[in-house]
Amino acid sequence: STFKVAYFVGSLSSTSINRTLSRALIALAPQDFEFTEIPIGDLPLYSPDFDDDYPPEARALKEALAASDAVLFVTPEYNRSIPGALKNAIDWASRPWGQNSFDHMPAAVIGASIGQIGTAVAQQSLRGVLSFCNARQMTAPEAYISFRPDVYTESGEVTDKETADFLRNFMEEFRTHVERVLTVIPRS
Ligand code: FNR
Repeated sequence: STFKVAYFVGSLSSTSINRTLSRALIALAPQDFEFTEIPIGDLPLYSPDFDDDYPPEARALKEALAASDAVLFVTPEYNRSIPGALKNAIDWASRPWGQNSFDHMPAAVIGASIGQIGTAVAQQSLRGVLSFCNARQMTAPEAYISFRPDVYTESGEVTDKETADFLRNFMEEFRTHVERVLTVIPRS
């Protein structure tokens, strides 16, 4: 059987290094992971006024999460937190009240920045949000990627062995985590 992994790229940039990182992660992931990106760029800003009638983009987001076994966040750090577009997507997914899409869902967090601490602060912020959303987060290993352009091709090939091994291990650990969580809490 395969594990269906939904993933968010937290950047709307056409030259996003986090999108490049997501391609690398997909290429290095275990064979039985099947990936679907959940787009966040066309979502309106969330308001409770939508709770009775979600727009198509938000409906699609919730359906994609419901059809997935696990969720992966690949995000930049904006001003020491996560980008507003990603927070907005999470807010949509967490609502309407009682229909939180992340409830008990296996999750992992990773991100790249051009700075030395590689989205560490954004990831801590995201972890707080996901805790409240009751996602089952992988807490170790952590992955703070200080992006070096020479290490990644645009299609997601990783040219540095140490980096490739690190990212491959991260995804293998995520697989173990997903399997463990789903053993105890099967997706309904
Ligand atoms: C940044 N950047 C940034 N980097 C960082 O390490 N910590 C930070 O807090 C911020 N803050 C920040 C705010 C805003 C509004 C922008 C546009 C950028 C730099 C960031 O790491 C860099 O732009 C990355 O390329 C963003 O990732 P994507 O969009 O290329 O995936």
